[in-house]
Amino acid sequence: MNILCIGAGYVGGPTMAMIALKCPEVKVTVVDINAARIAAWQSDSLPIYEPGLQEVVRACLGRNLFFSTDVDAAIAAADMIFVSVNTPTKTFGQGAGRAADLQYWEKTARQILANSKTDKIVVEKSTLPVRTAAAMQRILDSGGGDVKFEVLSNPEFLAEGTAIKDLQNPDRVLIGGHDTDAGRRAVAALVDVYAHWVPRERILTSNVWSSELSKLAANAFLAQRVSSINALSALCEATEADVCEVSRAIGMDSRIGAKFLNASVGFGGSCFKKDILNLVYLCETYGLTEVAAYWQQVVSMNDYQQDRFVRNMLSRMFNTVSGKRIALFGFAFKKDTGDTRESPAIRIARQLVEERAQVVISDPKALANAKVDLRDLGDRVQYESDPYAAAEGAHAIALMTEWDCYATLDYQRIYDRMMKPASFFDGRNRLDHAALYQIGFNVYGIGKTALSHL
Ligand SMILES: NC(=O)c1ccc[n+]([C@@H]2O[C@H](COP(=O)([O-])OP(=O)(O)OC[C@H]3O[C@@H](n4cnc5c(N)ncnc54)[C@H](O)[C@@H]3O)[C@@H](O)[C@H]2O)c1
Repeated sequence: MNILCIGAGYVGGPTMAMIALKCPEVKVTVVDINAARIAAWQSDSLPIYEPGLQEVVRACLGRNLFFSTDVDAAIAAADMIFVSVNTPTKTFGQGAGRAADLQYWEKTARQILANSKTDKIVVEKSTLPVRTAAAMQRILDSGGGDVKFEVLSNPEFLAEGTAIKDLQNPDRVLIGGHDTDAGRRAVAALVDVYAHWVPRERILTSNVWSSELSKLAANAFLAQRVSSINALSALCEATEADVCEVSRAIGMDSRIGAKFLNASVGFGGSCFKKDILNLVYLCETYGLTEVAAYWQQVVSMNDYQQDRFVRNMLSRMFNTVSGKRIALFGFAFKKDTGDTRESPAIRIARQLVEERAQVVISDPKALANAKVDLRDLGDRVQYESDPYAAAEGAHAIALMTEWDCYATLDYQRIYDRMMKPASFFDGRNRLDHAALYQIGFNVYGIGKTALSHL
């Protein structure tokens, strides 16, 4: 069998590498219009950082895993085509700022139609609005030829930073297909691929629309937990309750569960915000105004939490940060990834620059992306890979990303070289606040009483 994936990004690259690893008899090709990205996949310096990814790619590259820019030829040769192109939020026209921009996805559908001489199973891997598969099917059937296309939905649930672990051992794989003979055959073919390594009982099948909606719903639920605990963190700061104690207490209730209950500067990443906005737009399209407003609030709370963080920094630093050096520790939206898309650090850095602070950004993997995100700010922002150098002469450090390396720095050494009073704003509640306070820092966590010498 020949499997093709269109889109060699954060999803296409790792998922196809895992299929190639687990299905040595299958030839897997990944194509992209971005030639630099394809070249990087073929090199020792992969286009994305993900623990364990290099090893998986190295094991299969040139054996049964191939990267190419020749999209047309790869489509012609494929039996099963995964579409994993980007589906960002629309920035223009109707639904701007909320609806999914389906232009890349539609181009792909037309390209598949133009280059197919044999029957294909087309698998939606990208996250798409509910009922997109119907539009895909209509485009593919518009050729009127003998070639048959069967569209499946197979949303990806991996999380960046743990992609290889998630792919190796997924909680579940979801495959949506049509309840027809051809639909059932296509579903069975895709089930067979995953069954090489995923236990059958974890491979769920459903109708196409449930599958499409489940992906949006999963991201909405995850983000909602973050916004829920962040909403409580504001109340904790006002009442001297401690949000870590509250999340421990509620998380031990097995009906609630302990995961995704860490208060923070908020969620980021390319998916949560875009997928919830997409859900909001869909609800509005179906006239479900109250449902749309409910989910919109999850995004609004996330923005509020970041704005609140900067407001707190200002008020704790005598209502001005103008001319003050502030080190941001971390810029990626979470640890173990270089991805900065929608990272809370972007909004926070911009607001601090607006307040005329001298912002210095440090991150073990995300500095290159940070420079692109903030390129319009020019030399109003500095980039420093060494956290000790970033903090030298600073009035404050703000922890933006929960990278493990920040927990083990020599904070006495850092404190000694900072301006006084030295403040530490822990945007992830990741560090030992009592120890920092003892060194001399004024420590401000999220949803916690301030530990201040002032
Ligand atoms: N990043 C995640 O953690 C994650 C997780 C689950 C689902 N998803 C979803 O998966 C999809 C892809 O996300 P991503 O993070 O991999 O995006 P990405 O931007 O990293 O990768 C998409 C790739 O598609 C390529 N592309 C666009 N149009 C093309 C075309 N016509 N032909 C060939 N290549 C084309 C782009 O050049 C890009 O390299 C999105 O719908 C996203 O919502 C992402």
